[in-house]
Amino acid sequence: MTVFLIYEYFILCTLAESAQILGVFHSPSYSHQTVFQSIYVELSLRGHNVTVGTSHPLNNPRLVNLTEIDINRQTCAIIEEDQTISNLAKELGMYEKMVKFYAVAYKVAESIWSDSRFVQIYNDSGSRFDLVIVQDTMLPLLHPVAFKLKTPLVGVSSNGGWARSHYAIGNPNPLSLYSELYLPYGRRMTLPEKMANALYDIWNRYYLNFEALPKCDQIARKYLGNDIPYIQDIEKNMSLLLLTTNPILYEPRPNVPTVISMEQMHIKPVKPLPKDLKQFLDNAKEGVVYFSLGSNVKSINIPEKLRKVLIEAFAELPYKVLWKFEADDLPGKPENVLIGKWIPQQDVLAHPNVKVFVTQCGLQSVEEAVARGVPMVGMPFIADQTRNIQRLSEEGAAVGLEHTTLTKEEFKNAIFEVVNNPKYKQNVKRLGEIWVDHPLPSLNRTIWWIEYVIRHKGTKHLRSPTADVSWFEYLLIDVILVLLTIVSLALFILYVAIKFILRMIFGGRKLKQN
Ligand SMILES: *[C@@H]1O[C@H](CO)[C@@H](O)[C@H](O)[C@H]1NC(C)=O
Ligand SMILES: *[C@@H]1O[C@H](CO)[C@@H](O)[C@H](O)[C@H]1NC(C)=O
Ligand SMILES: *[C@@H]1O[C@H](CO)[C@@H](O)[C@H](O)[C@H]1NC(C)=O
Ligand SMILES: *[C@@H]1O[C@H](CO)[C@@H](O)[C@H](O)[C@H]1NC(C)=O
Ligand SMILES: *[C@@H]1O[C@H](CO)[C@@H](O)[C@H](O)[C@H]1NC(C)=O
Repeated sequence: MTVFLIYEYFILCTLAESAQILGVFHSPSYSHQTVFQSIYVELSLRGHNVTVGTSHPLNNPRLVNLTEIDINRQTCAIIEEDQTISNLAKELGMYEKMVKFYAVAYKVAESIWSDSRFVQIYNDSGSRFDLVIVQDTMLPLLHPVAFKLKTPLVGVSSNGGWARSHYAIGNPNPLSLYSELYLPYGRRMTLPEKMANALYDIWNRYYLNFEALPKCDQIARKYLGNDIPYIQDIEKNMSLLLLTTNPILYEPRPNVPTVISMEQMHIKPVKPLPKDLKQFLDNAKEGVVYFSLGSNVKSINIPEKLRKVLIEAFAELPYKVLWKFEADDLPGKPENVLIGKWIPQQDVLAHPNVKVFVTQCGLQSVEEAVARGVPMVGMPFIADQTRNIQRLSEEGAAVGLEHTTLTKEEFKNAIFEVVNNPKYKQNVKRLGEIWVDHPLPSLNRTIWWIEYVIRHKGTKHLRSPTADVSWFEYLLIDVILVLLTIVSLALFILYVAIKFILRMIFGGRKLKQN
């Protein structure tokens, strides 16, 4: 009875509490923002008063507890001006990519820090917040807001954890097993890959500690003043780190208790299709190839040569083709192809006539295909896409292609293989079934954890000691050094003693002989 009452009291307490939450999600990319949207909408529906900075506001008047600050204009302008997407091309070296990306990140941070609507929030001593949620990417750009507003800090990533995030929260990160997100290494790294991974890690630690983090710290101080701790201490203070991972694309790894995985956060129940699209798909009894390169790469930007290969191949296919193409007109469009600037991808993938998804293999697109059970032909361009298609091919759920050397025959063969060989469909279904099997839906788990942080004003009690020890303590270098000293000392004493004894014996004999 008492247990029941306590339980009821607890439920009432948690329901009654409506927290003030600030979220800042700086990546101006639709596929990243959809993950954050699911979280902040749900928090607002649960009665929290949520204020977010986002590049893709929902502007839904029914979400009465949600205030969105639209940062699309300034952040998109920076990303376009710096050609960020082409700078992430898989052909470029990792250092080159990261340094260019860091440079863009500083500009994005400045544009948000200096935004008057945002200044009003962090510079108003009357601001009362209970929690700050920030996007956690390769740099802790806006994490210091939490310190300024005196709230616990939650980091959330629309993909897995960056090496920096793992260091900050104290996650074990053995380089023999795990590599940085955008490195294209599989589950069992070869010796040269492990060497490259180790060298990258040394460079990354150096660059973060001596260049990137001081720069982020300097930017934050410019706006918050000098009374803030060093940025690394602030990022280490994250109460929770929410990562978008899954057991299919990401190798399982040991996580400290404050790292929580989210799966399929942006997957929504199937909605009815727009009429013209529904008609096109319904009538395509011969099957449909759905082609989209996502919201970052965009098929309007691909090289002319590749576009020609795709158009010629599509024209010769015995299927209909639905192509997400970001313009009104596609010159030379074959009869069997329908283009659309924007396509409700999750709902199209749920249509039974869609036989194959030709994709760039961005994380969110892959998740949607797996959720709807559609096998893939993958054509990676940037970021983690190479890694994703490698994993899906290993699982027999997709065929990977290299777009720089792609020929018409190769492309057609890949599509025929995936459509006609039932193994691809079976495998993608198998993966989907593993993926959704959890004691609680992912969104419920995520919200529970965020509210847990609010209820306990942080998770100091869960902080892993690995976040606070230095690397030489972690690797027992201090212990090894002491042991080595003791052993060497013992050996030295033994050596001196033996030498002394020998001299006593033989020295004595020598004397006698003389
Ligand atoms: C808004 O928050 C209140 C509690 O503060 C809650 O009762 C209500 O359901 C929420 N409404 C919506 C539409 O989010
Ligand atoms: C909710 O947040 C908005 C924006 O930060 C603020 O203007 C408003 O006063 C808050 N409402 C409540 C009920 O706390
Ligand atoms: C760490 O977070 C707590 C709240 O959870 C806050 O009181 C403290 O000032 C923070 N410290 C740093 C260095 O950010
Ligand atoms: C914040 O407010 C203080 C005064 O309260 C002012 O001196 C400072 O310039 C403001 N900072 C920004 C970035 O506007
Ligand atoms: C998950 O959350 C939703 C929305 O808050 C709720 O309606 C549903 O009952 C929850 N599911 C479980 C299994 O707790």
